[in-house]
Amino acid sequence: QAFFKPIKSSSQPSPTNRPTKVSVIGVGNVGMAIAQTILTQDLVDELALVDAKPDKLQGEMLDLQHAAAFLPRTKIQASVDYQVTAGSDLCIVTAGARQNPGESRLNLLQRNLAMYKTIIPPLAKHSPEAILLIVSNPVDVLTYVAWKLSGFPSNRVIGSGTNLDSSRFRFLIADHLDVNAQDVQAYIVGEHGDSSVALWSSISVGGVPVLSFLERQQIVYEKETLEKIHREVVESAYQVISLKGYTSWAIGYSVASLARDILRNQRRIHPVSVLAKGFYGIDFGEVFLSLPAQLGRSGVLGVTNVHLTDEEAQQLRDSAKTILEVQSQLGV
Ligand code: NAI
Ligand code: 2OP
Repeated sequence: QAFFKPIKSSSQPSPTNRPTKVSVIGVGNVGMAIAQTILTQDLVDELALVDAKPDKLQGEMLDLQHAAAFLPRTKIQASVDYQVTAGSDLCIVTAGARQNPGESRLNLLQRNLAMYKTIIPPLAKHSPEAILLIVSNPVDVLTYVAWKLSGFPSNRVIGSGTNLDSSRFRFLIADHLDVNAQDVQAYIVGEHGDSSVALWSSISVGGVPVLSFLERQQIVYEKETLEKIHREVVESAYQVISLKGYTSWAIGYSVASLARDILRNQRRIHPVSVLAKGFYGIDFGEVFLSLPAQLGRSGVLGVTNVHLTDEEAQQLRDSAKTILEVQSQLGV
């Protein structure tokens, strides 16, 4: 006996109410921070979780389900079998080894490459129309790996990239100038990691270009001060990892913001890892790294033509070479 008497006999979903479905692969610190941020922001109708550890997976699923009375209604499922991800609009991959204190992201590659060979093919098989959003590290190289293993077009394979680094950058600039970080427009591009590039020339606050404002006011700023802020961004993750063992909350919000703008076709610009060949003189290999990209329902809609100084463009090409060097050891 149904609790409500149905008013239509057909149980087929109409084309207008097809559920939005997101899958999160890996229910560790990062996967769960992303899952819970997505739930609280009411972004999906269905959430599927996958992990290699069945007990942990079941526990995380139940714990989230038990919050149902406080959250928008979402069907939450979990399984070690990728069948549970079937028909996803967006698959977010966070499974993988993480850094030990002091270890670089690039050092994780061989461990996480082996894992990706078991994760990406079944994901692509069960959700051939999905967008893949890669988070595990080293994120730029693994985004390339996911692109190759999935056979998806490059606009549907995105790495979370420097969306997080740029948020750290905006926080530090906002703190320095005592303004709201949401009013600071500033990009870190290139590798999500040690060779990332700060685009000082395009920073603005409330529409006012910061460097030219300082110059006009004849306020002396030292290159050293700028480099110090960028160094702080690069060291942020190492600092958090040495203090609490992993990073989770900021990447949770960062990825949820990407999920929202993709699923809701917001056409917003985010620095994320995209196939960079052909941009800013990167013509020497197929490499994924972060550039300011416009995101929407079909994934990457385009790359913004931000002005880079000659020095910034050279640093970006050097960052591409660093990633390509690691990539050359792959054999995917
Ligand atoms: P964690 O150790 O807490 O979680 C990893 C999860 O992956 C575990 O639950 C584990 O059971 C699962 N897993 C392992 N092998 C698997 C497989 N074959 N299939 C499915 N699941 C599998 O690690 P944490 O802290 O969640 O970090 C995950 C990854 O995210 C790391 O690579 C880390 O470096 C990366 N990360 C990336 C960030 C970014 O900005 N791109 C930010 C923070 C972390
Ligand atoms: C982060 O930047 C460790 O990639 C991770 O928080």
